[in-house]
Amino acid sequence: MLGRVNHIAIAVPDLAAATAAYRDTLGAAVSQPQPLPEHGVTVVFVELPNTKVELLEPLGQDSPIAVFLEKNPSGGMHHICYEVDDILVARDRLVATGARVLGDGQPKTGAHGKPVLFLHPKDFFGTLIELEQA
Ligand code: CO
Repeated sequence: MLGRVNHIAIAVPDLAAATAAYRDTLGAAVSQPQPLPEHGVTVVFVELPNTKVELLEPLGQDSPIAVFLEKNPSGGMHHICYEVDDILVARDRLVATGARVLGDGQPKTGAHGKPVLFLHPKDFFGTLIELEQA
C-alpha cells in the first residue's frame, strides 16, 4: 500500500530562522513560505534529491502544531508522509484494521494540492503518519 516517502515534516518555532539554517548552513534549496490556513501552518519545502523536508510554523490560533511546540520548544520531527495510490482505498483498509484516522476521516487538500489524511500516532509507534495520494 505504501509508496515513496513524500516528505518528512519538522515543526519549528521560527520559520525564517529554520529556512536560513537549511539554505545557508546546510546548503539546501528551500522554497518560498506557503501559508496553509486550512491546516493552521505556514510551510517551506527543502528540496532534496530523493525526498523533501517540510518545515512547519504555526499559523493563526489553534494551530495543530502549537501544543507540539509547547512540548518541544526548539522544534522537532512532527510527521512522515508516505504516498499511496488511492487514499480512499488506503483509508478504508486502515479503518477496517482498527487504525484511527484523525479529524472527520475525510481527506483534506494538502500542501501539494493532493488529498491527504493523518493517522493517529499511537497506532503507529509514536509517529504521526500523513498519507498523500500520489
Ligand atoms: Co506533511
